[in-house]
Amino acid sequence: MSSPIKASQGSAYSRILGVGGARGNRVVDNAEMCTIIDSSDEWIQQRTGIIERRWVDDSQNTLSLATEAARKAIDRSGVPTDQIDAVLVSSVSNHRRFPSLAVQVASEFGLPNPAATDLSAACAGFCYGVSLADSMVRVGSAHYVLVVGVEVLSEQTDYTDRSTAFLFGDGAGAAVIGPSDTPAIGPVVWGSEINTAEIIHSDDFDVAAAGGFSPKIHMEGNKVFRWATTYIVEKTVETLEVAGLKPDELDVFIPHQANNRITDAMLRRLKLPESVVVSRDIKHMGNASAASVPIAMEALLESGEAKSGDNALIIGFGAGLVYAGQVVVLP
Ligand SMILES: CC(C)(COP(=O)(O)OP(=O)(O)OC[C@H]1O[C@@H](n2cnc3c(N)ncnc32)[C@H](O)[C@@H]1OP(=O)(O)O)[C@@H](O)C(=O)NCCC(=O)NCCS
Repeated sequence: MSSPIKASQGSAYSRILGVGGARGNRVVDNAEMCTIIDSSDEWIQQRTGIIERRWVDDSQNTLSLATEAARKAIDRSGVPTDQIDAVLVSSVSNHRRFPSLAVQVASEFGLPNPAATDLSAACAGFCYGVSLADSMVRVGSAHYVLVVGVEVLSEQTDYTDRSTAFLFGDGAGAAVIGPSDTPAIGPVVWGSEINTAEIIHSDDFDVAAAGGFSPKIHMEGNKVFRWATTYIVEKTVETLEVAGLKPDELDVFIPHQANNRITDAMLRRLKLPESVVVSRDIKHMGNASAASVPIAMEALLESGEAKSGDNALIIGFGAGLVYAGQVVVLP
């Protein structure tokens, strides 16, 4: 027997309408980093590609970065703020368990009663948000979705661990996603790995509180590196395939900015033509987790290396372990 319940229906397709980024104000180069840990500029550059990273100064925090990035994305999208009816914020940096950062960002813009929630998908967070927003627009549960990835990792870094301390940066990236007449966000390739929770993890908050310290990030870099250069490389290829694109139909490649050597491994397997623009934003930013992909996207658009209408493969991967990727048309 059929039910009288009505199902919602949205736009046939969705697209990214505008993107924005915000970076920590403090530039911390490898020389300064090497006053904190026993390392060298040469080692850090050779192993990761990082030259400098961005940290927040005293005037910045998670909410201010998210708001700055979101403001740019909204302005560039041309969508009136009162039409944004959903906010998704991905972060592992919120100091409070509640209220969500999403509600606080919505409040900064005076959005009228949007659906608002935070996501926890670490470095894959922005790409998780893009996929959820795409589904929301197409199913009709929202018209315009603000997706934000924001992190302040400098305050979660263990500066006694020289194998991770030089990696992280602070920033935010945002996108407004809304209806489209043509396909502009490809199928998501996403998933998680079970029994890998300890490979990248934060200290338990209760244990940290009892010990009088704040929770820090811990990572077995070698294991993440092996996973990223094998399993995630194959997921990158799959992301292109499910979008129905051949390597020579791709214009831009924006992988999570975790390590240039991971990006190199992806490129070897993808066999992309020389013409494809590849983000190396990690050089000046470090790894900003959920903010990494949208910040890198903004940088390529601002520099003119990428342009509106380009096909870009984006993929995020990290703590969980989790991953998500899709091909998108740049705004
Ligand atoms: C973190 C990472 C850069 C470390 O590089 P690596 O080549 O794996 O380095 P290792 O940890 O194996 O250490 C290799 C050597 O360098 C040394 N070393 C580690 N950190 C160092 C530093 N900052 N400076 C100098 N030497 C260092 C180690 O002691 C080790 O020396 P040994 O061979 O004499 O024992 C790398 O593992 C990585 O990028 N992993 C993936 C991170 C990632 O993708 N995260 C994404 C999710 S957030």
